[in-house]
Amino acid sequence: MRTQVAIIGAGPSGLLLGHLLRQAGVDCVVVERRSADHVLGRIRAGVLETVTTGLMTELGIDARMKAEGLIEEGFNLASGDHLIRIDITALTGRHVTVYGQTELTRDLMDAAPERGLEIVYEAEGAALHDVEGDAPYVTYVKDGETRRIDCAFIAGCDGFHGPSRKAIPGRAVREYEREYPFGWLGILADVPPCHPELIYANTTRGFALASMRSATRSRYYIQVPLTDRVEDWSEDRLWNELAARFDALSAHGVTRGPALEMSIAPLRSYVFETMRHGRLFLAGDSAHIVPPTGAKGLNLAASDVAYLSEALIAFFKAGDEAGLAGYQSKALARIWKAERFSWYLTKLMHRFPEDGAFEHRMQAAELDYVASSRAMQAAIAENYVGLPL
Ligand code: APR
Ligand code: PHB
Repeated sequence: MRTQVAIIGAGPSGLLLGHLLRQAGVDCVVVERRSADHVLGRIRAGVLETVTTGLMTELGIDARMKAEGLIEEGFNLASGDHLIRIDITALTGRHVTVYGQTELTRDLMDAAPERGLEIVYEAEGAALHDVEGDAPYVTYVKDGETRRIDCAFIAGCDGFHGPSRKAIPGRAVREYEREYPFGWLGILADVPPCHPELIYANTTRGFALASMRSATRSRYYIQVPLTDRVEDWSEDRLWNELAARFDALSAHGVTRGPALEMSIAPLRSYVFETMRHGRLFLAGDSAHIVPPTGAKGLNLAASDVAYLSEALIAFFKAGDEAGLAGYQSKALARIWKAERFSWYLTKLMHRFPEDGAFEHRMQAAELDYVASSRAMQAAIAENYVGLPL
């Protein structure tokens, strides 16, 4: 098979890129290792910046997002038993939309057939070839048969564990990494949220986040030691811990219900420089990871894809190579600022095992300063709502 852009990975990056290219008449094929159901089984964050909702609108795949997404004009940081409301709309004139990554992915998958976006699911062993030359290609195995896609460019949208980043030789790259000494234990349940807006809480028992998917579905997380496994946590134990961290802060207290999902995710900051090697471009989690504090992961994938799609379309429609040459510096400038904000909020809101009384006072003093300073609140709000493209 021959196409213009072979896209590896059908997460948000690969699907958004595929749709944007198809809408502009650029040929592409998406190759995904898992089944569609498996991809949709992953529960990820759910706070969308206008960059992300804007791309869905540009694609005309925004009807359900507009109907079901919750407009959030503010969110809260909590210090001890005190809520600090960050009034995003008063401070920036904008808002964020709460709509699960799973739902956005489902909308993009559902719209693929009618828009002629080909997605090959359950494609095993995807491998990248000749990315340094003029005629790269991708091979994979489907139904026991090896298949080959010849293309002009390969887009590596295959997440942190995919093969694309590994196809770039070590001499061409530099990696930056920070691992955090804790994970987030999350629970999704059909119970009303404990508060109308998100709460990121720094409590003496550790960090906790109260989030939601709708007026009847809640998403909570707590900071847990890296050694904890999900089997160590019964639903009762987790609800007790959430009540201990949120009952004093929230409007209605924590309502309990059966878990639809419970999982633990480690926290990491990671940037891989370079995002281009020959005819291979990386986008999304294949090139960078942020800790979930601040919900930047999906939104950074969207901004990468906004830059990359524009550059590829300019190349195929007008022979213009400037966009492709500028992709990595444009994308990285935004990525590093989102890395900074996610790292800052992680440091401010978690209990680090190595921290003592002095560091706890520093966190409390900084939160006290945030509570009293409109300038600090404006800086947090403009990062949370998303920096301009
Ligand atoms: N061949 C084909 N597909 C692959 C391969 C492979 N060898 N390896 C991984 N993939 C697929 C994964 O199965 C996954 O569906 O690539 C996709 C990558 O999707 P994500 O991990 O969701 O990454 P991305 O699309 O960049 O989205 C970033 O999603 O992971 C979250 O928190 C992250 O919100 C962020 C956003
Ligand atoms: C979520 O709702 O899953 C969520 C919200 C905000 C975050 C992370 C996750 O920062």
